[in-house]
Amino acid sequence: MLPFESILKQAREQCEAAADLPAIEQLRVQFLGKKGIVTELMKTMASLSPAERPLYGQQVNELKEAIQSLLQVKQEQLQAHAMNAALERDAVDTSLPGRNVGIGHLHPVTQTRLRIEGFFSSMGFDIVTGPEIEDEYHNFDALNVPPHHPARASHDTFYLEDGHLLRTHTSPVQIRYMKTHKPPFRMVAPGRVYRCDSDMTHTPMFHQLEALLVDDHSTFADLKGLLQTFLEAFFEQSVVLRLRPSYFPFTEPSAEVDIQCVKCQGEGCRTCSQSGWLEILGCGMVHPQVLNNVSIDSERYSGFAIGIGIDRLAMLRYEIPDLRLLFENDIRFLKQF
Ligand code: DAH
Repeated sequence: MLPFESILKQAREQCEAAADLPAIEQLRVQFLGKKGIVTELMKTMASLSPAERPLYGQQVNELKEAIQSLLQVKQEQLQAHAMNAALERDAVDTSLPGRNVGIGHLHPVTQTRLRIEGFFSSMGFDIVTGPEIEDEYHNFDALNVPPHHPARASHDTFYLEDGHLLRTHTSPVQIRYMKTHKPPFRMVAPGRVYRCDSDMTHTPMFHQLEALLVDDHSTFADLKGLLQTFLEAFFEQSVVLRLRPSYFPFTEPSAEVDIQCVKCQGEGCRTCSQSGWLEILGCGMVHPQVLNNVSIDSERYSGFAIGIGIDRLAMLRYEIPDLRLLFENDIRFLKQF
């Protein structure tokens, strides 16, 4: 076999066997590089007679071009192959479900507060707030709780050093509102309140929502009607109310409101401690003395007030057995709502 043909055959075989681009580069050096096989053949041309040279030169050139084209073809094959492999490896399957982004949600107490606010706001009530650090006047005196009244002691107040205190209920917002607004008006005041108390059903901080309506014709029947409508809207079912006479210094008459247990419909269960009833809130007609304290004419105006425990309603709605769960911020607990 002529050396040219055997060189070409060798180049073809090696080219075929080349597995990657570096291997092609190595072949290029081996055959066409400065000291490559074809280059060496070129150099031997000098030792030939002038008559032999043209044919020899032509054949070496043909060999060179043939090898160049072999390398070129194989190189393009390998590049295309690498490209396809990369496309396959990095392919995005747009039909796969996306990764969940944990955006979180509102705390169950917040959800409950917004639910209650939503109801009252649809009934035309203003939503207002007041300070958590209060003074004795707004928290007690103006609400008709005199200094040595037992109701003051029963609140287990956190007193601050400068004579201020952490409000023990949202009722002081009634006073602040009535001092700055002229009747008729209706408002709700949600917020945190504080008492020095802690067990299954008490935490040192909890949430209340105060409702207050004052005008020149409201009656106890209006209060009861509003409560019925509110509780049925809140629990999304019909509700049986029971009003028990009670005492609050700032309302007269006063009542504590129970509803027939929404879990067992009065049969008796764990939620209602087998009693069939759930204590839900306190309420009453605003005491004339309280109206006088904020310079509202108690001969002309009357009104009613409601004190709702937001956490208690959240516990009932979401069937939460222990109040403290609401404030421990255990993510496994919160995720459920
Ligand atoms: N402030 C009372 C408390 O925290 C709750 C309350 C009862 C508020 C009756 C009211 C009401 O407005 O009329 O114990």
